[in-house]
Amino acid sequence: MSALVILAVVVLVLGAAAALFTVQRNRDTQRAVGHLARETRERDVKARKATAPAAEAAPTTGKEVELATAAARQESTDVESAVPSTPVAWTPPDEDAMGVTRRQFMNRGIIAGFGLGIGGFAPAALAFLWPQGSTGFGSKISVGKVAEIKAQIDQNNGFLYYPEGRMWITEYPSASLDNARKVYSPSELAGMEAGLIALYQKCPHLGCRVPECATSQWFECGCHGSQYNRVGEKKAGPAPRGLDRFAMTVSGDSFTVDTGLIIQGPPIGVNTTGQEAEGPHCISGGAAH
Ligand code: FES
Repeated sequence: MSALVILAVVVLVLGAAAALFTVQRNRDTQRAVGHLARETRERDVKARKATAPAAEAAPTTGKEVELATAAARQESTDVESAVPSTPVAWTPPDEDAMGVTRRQFMNRGIIAGFGLGIGGFAPAALAFLWPQGSTGFGSKISVGKVAEIKAQIDQNNGFLYYPEGRMWITEYPSASLDNARKVYSPSELAGMEAGLIALYQKCPHLGCRVPECATSQWFECGCHGSQYNRVGEKKAGPAPRGLDRFAMTVSGDSFTVDTGLIIQGPPIGVNTTGQEAEGPHCISGGAAH
C-alpha cells in the first residue's frame, strides 16, 4: 500500500515537471515566431521612413483628393489580386537560424534547475519512504523453534533476554493453563499453550527496563522496587499492573512474537502460576501506591 502511494507521488511529480517543460517550450516558440519586440518594430518604422522616396506633394483641391483616393484604392486592389488565393502550408521556423534569446536561455535554465532538483529529491524520498526490512522492534519477530528456545531459557537460569524485540521470554507452566485461560486473550494463550510467554521489558510503572532476579526467579525493577513473577504477574511495588506482553503465534514448532502488538499486563491480583520467590530478592520490594 505504502509502495503504491510512493509510486503515485513520484509519477505525479514527474508528470508535473513534464507538463511545465512542455508549456514553457511552447511559450518560447510562440514568442520567437509570433510577435516582434516593440524596439524591433520601432526600428523597422525608422528604417522604412529613411529609405522611402520623398513624399509627393499633397493634393490641394477636392478633385485632386478624389483622384488620389481612387488611385490608392486601385493600387491596393492590384496588390490583393496579386496575392495567391491558395493557402500556403505552415513551415516551422528553423531553430538553429533563430538562435536562443536571453529570455529563452533563462527559462530553460530555470526548467533545468527544477528538473535537477526533482531528480535529486525523488530518489531521496523513495529511499526514505521505502518499507524497511521487517526485523527489529515493532515487527513480527521469528524467534525460533519452541524446543530450542526452551533449551536456551534453561541454560540462562530461567530467563531468555531477546534484545532485538526488547523482550524477555520465559516458560509458562502447562499445569497453570486452566487458570490462564480464564484471564488471558487468545493472542497471549497462543504462546502460553506452547509453554512460552514473551514479556515487554518496560516497567509499566515509569518505564525502566526490568531485569530478572536469578535468586528469586522473579523480575525486580531497580527503579522503584516493583516485582513480578516469572510470567510477569505483579507481586509487589508501585506498578499499576503486571508486565505488558506481546501477541504470539506458534506455527508448526516456530515461535513468532509480534512486537508491534503490545498487550497490557494483567491487573493487580492475577496470579495464575502461584509462583512465590524461590530465593533472596535482588531488591527490597517497593511499597504499593
Ligand atoms: S519504573 Fe519500575 S518500579 Fe518504577
